[in-house]
Amino acid sequence: MNRDDLILLIHGGRIVDPGQGIDQIGDILITDGEIVQVGHTITESPSSREVLREAQHLDATGMIICPGFVDLHCHLREPGFEDKETISTGTRAAAAGGFTTVCCMANTDPPLDTPAAVDWVKRRALEDGLVAVLPIGCISAGRMGRELTDMAGLSDAGVVGFSDDGDPVADEHLMRAAMILSHELGLPIIDHCEDKTLSSGGVMNEGRLSTATGLRGIPAAAEEVMVDRDLKLARRTGAQVHIAHVSTRGSVALIRRAREEGTPVTAEVTPHHLILTQDRIYGDGREKPLDTNAKVNPPLRTEADIEALIGGLKDGVIDAIATDHAPHSAADKDCDFSLAAFGISGFETALGCLLDLVHRGELELARLLSKLTCEPARVIGRDRQLGILKEGRPANITIFDPDRQWTVNSRDFASRGKNTPYQGHNLKGRVMATIANGRIVYVDDSWPSCAPLR
Ligand code: DOR
Repeated sequence: MNRDDLILLIHGGRIVDPGQGIDQIGDILITDGEIVQVGHTITESPSSREVLREAQHLDATGMIICPGFVDLHCHLREPGFEDKETISTGTRAAAAGGFTTVCCMANTDPPLDTPAAVDWVKRRALEDGLVAVLPIGCISAGRMGRELTDMAGLSDAGVVGFSDDGDPVADEHLMRAAMILSHELGLPIIDHCEDKTLSSGGVMNEGRLSTATGLRGIPAAAEEVMVDRDLKLARRTGAQVHIAHVSTRGSVALIRRAREEGTPVTAEVTPHHLILTQDRIYGDGREKPLDTNAKVNPPLRTEADIEALIGGLKDGVIDAIATDHAPHSAADKDCDFSLAAFGISGFETALGCLLDLVHRGELELARLLSKLTCEPARVIGRDRQLGILKEGRPANITIFDPDRQWTVNSRDFASRGKNTPYQGHNLKGRVMATIANGRIVYVDDSWPSCAPLR
């Protein structure tokens, strides 16, 4: 079946679309890949009789229907690191996590620093991808931090922003020049803030545990020094700077102040920085070897940081939740903690983890969904097409059961990256189906009546 054949009626679910302030029980009708009706109850009328008879019906009673999630930050690893992930496996994992649009980072091999490399990824995504892939182009050639890429050429090739993510841009002069150009091009700088003179050699948050284990710590200041620098540069240049994976209380305070002063800054936080602390995962580090699957950059921080990050989501200082899905091979992680790669495979656990904040009353459901849908869409200027459920728009829809309990088993991941710190954890809340651009791209096994397209 191709996309144009699909007529789908999703009925009886709770439609939550924060971008339009919708929260109601209702139905959604999809034909030709587009949403044609969203309403309380879609009933047969002379004009719709034919369509409704042919429609595949999806009973979403007890479930939440929302716009497909938009992820501003993931690593699909192709080209160059296909042992960790491919566009095919990564987008399957994204679909299983409820994501219908993902922005992929440029730290591939070769990196996405030329229009040709960007074209290659786009073509591959059209051939192999299950969800929409929007590439991010490098700021510096080869991600070396020395000279700018052809940012105008990358923009023409269709990148949604610029980033050397995985590494910071240390040189202020280069960053300022990048901001001036990105401002002219109307695209954001997606900013990995890390002062390497402070973080170099660090493998975990600097604190009690790094002292106790003798492992080198990464202080909060390593992030905050560069956040501060880049907010000042953004203020001066007018560039839209999007601070990636904010992890510290101090960064939240800096961004809040900059916003109040009118700096054009947006920001994202990852699920793991909202849910995990170093203490929650490792305890005092004496009982068992440290889990390399929780080694991530920036590192897991503290309870006080989590509190500030949640506060930032609530008062709008942090616009989006982005997974920073960073799949790695077993060889990259099955080693000494100090040698293991940084990163967490995040697509398939994101929703289940984040709903914990809702179940515990720390975040409202509509706010959580807003940070996964309309707000990230706005950061990349796609808010008229993505992140909302509206007639005439492409059907990008996520259906989830907020109460379904399940146990994380990375062997079941579609992602090649089995590197999750949640292995064996019980989560409450599960994606049941994902519809991307009018195609059913994921259905949970327990919902056999509705088969996904392959
Ligand atoms: O933990 C991380 N992994 N942080 C980054 O900034 C890069 C990423 C990766 O590419 O593995």
